[in-house]
Amino acid sequence: MNVTKVSDDTYLLSVNVENILFEGLWEIPNGVALNSYIIKGEKTAIIDGVCGWDGVPESLFALLDKLNIDPKSIEYLIINHMEPDHSGWIEDFKKINPNFKVVCSKKSAELLDAFYGHTENVTVVTDDDTLDLGNGHILKFVEIPNVHWPDTIATFDTLTGTLFSCDAFGSFGNATESNYDDMLKSDDIDFYENEAVRYYANIVAAFSMPVKKAIDKCSALPIKIIAPGHGIVWRENPNKIIEDYIRYASYQKGPAKEEITLIWGSMYGMTEKAVNYVVKVLEEENIKFNVHRVPEVSWGTVLASAWNSTGIILAMPTYEYKMFPPMAAVLEELGKKKVFGRKAFRFGSYGWSGGAQKELDEIMNKYCMKWDFIEPVEFKGSPRDEDLQLIETRIRDLVKEVRNAVNS
Ligand code: FEO
Repeated sequence: MNVTKVSDDTYLLSVNVENILFEGLWEIPNGVALNSYIIKGEKTAIIDGVCGWDGVPESLFALLDKLNIDPKSIEYLIINHMEPDHSGWIEDFKKINPNFKVVCSKKSAELLDAFYGHTENVTVVTDDDTLDLGNGHILKFVEIPNVHWPDTIATFDTLTGTLFSCDAFGSFGNATESNYDDMLKSDDIDFYENEAVRYYANIVAAFSMPVKKAIDKCSALPIKIIAPGHGIVWRENPNKIIEDYIRYASYQKGPAKEEITLIWGSMYGMTEKAVNYVVKVLEEENIKFNVHRVPEVSWGTVLASAWNSTGIILAMPTYEYKMFPPMAAVLEELGKKKVFGRKAFRFGSYGWSGGAQKELDEIMNKYCMKWDFIEPVEFKGSPRDEDLQLIETRIRDLVKEVRNAVNS
């Protein structure tokens, strides 16, 4: 739990959340920070809100206490996005200060009613509407729908040049008291970049087109600081996270990085024999690669890796005339998150019948994934030397295709 100063009259209140599945679904091995911001003009506003994951806002009140802010003095609650990781504390806040005014988009107002039955003192804002807090803090609102829900807005303080961007430009990873790019070492920035890719792939990836539109729209503002709802605040180099997000959005259709993600599963070790062989081939090729066994490795990790990678290798046995089920589940998720345009290759074992290819084709077609596959290799039971050699040839072909796609 941290309170730090962002800029004049502006404070970051941050709470780390760990040991949960984010959205009830995504593993967060390094936690996630829920960021809230206070702006003290002549009037005080709070943007989004931190809370314990149980929805009880003692954590928020403790942070306000550190700033000597009486919750009753907060006049405006600005809800950039109604998802409960940013708004789940409102009902409890209402018990302490029933007179606050909510400022949010039209869609947020509808959701606020649907989720919490809250309809009083709600001011709906749209593009270019402003709110004057006094002492020069004039807030301007920018609609950035679908980053991440359709209701999302960003709030821009015209005095300090701070863009409060909510989910946009966010990342996983716990916050520290040095939660600013100008206070972090390059290793720390690298850590948060990995966490940002994972966050992007898990939470925002399906909305990459709206992300591009939001970046275009926000780029018209004289941004000096980016203050997201999750992750670190960018004061020294806000362009870094903007450019990173432009890059992440571009990975949707490929090519992405010069990397390969090998996703594999095995029932009795037959496919695993070929996987072990392939790992040696990839090492010889001196290309960066990531290996994930399913179902052991979480979807979130596989998604982040696949989002970064131009090449995908799928290795799994046939299972009851279809694909090994955990592989099918992961591929469905990659399809929903719109991991498109990858260079790909599949191999694996079968017993009495094939069938994996049919299901793979169905998933590719269902989500219009447009992966460019090299001809697969299937082997009956355990792979023979000739199977391994054929797989090796195709892996080396895939590596060439990945390098060509990235460097052409
Ligand atoms: Fe951080 Fe879409 O909520």
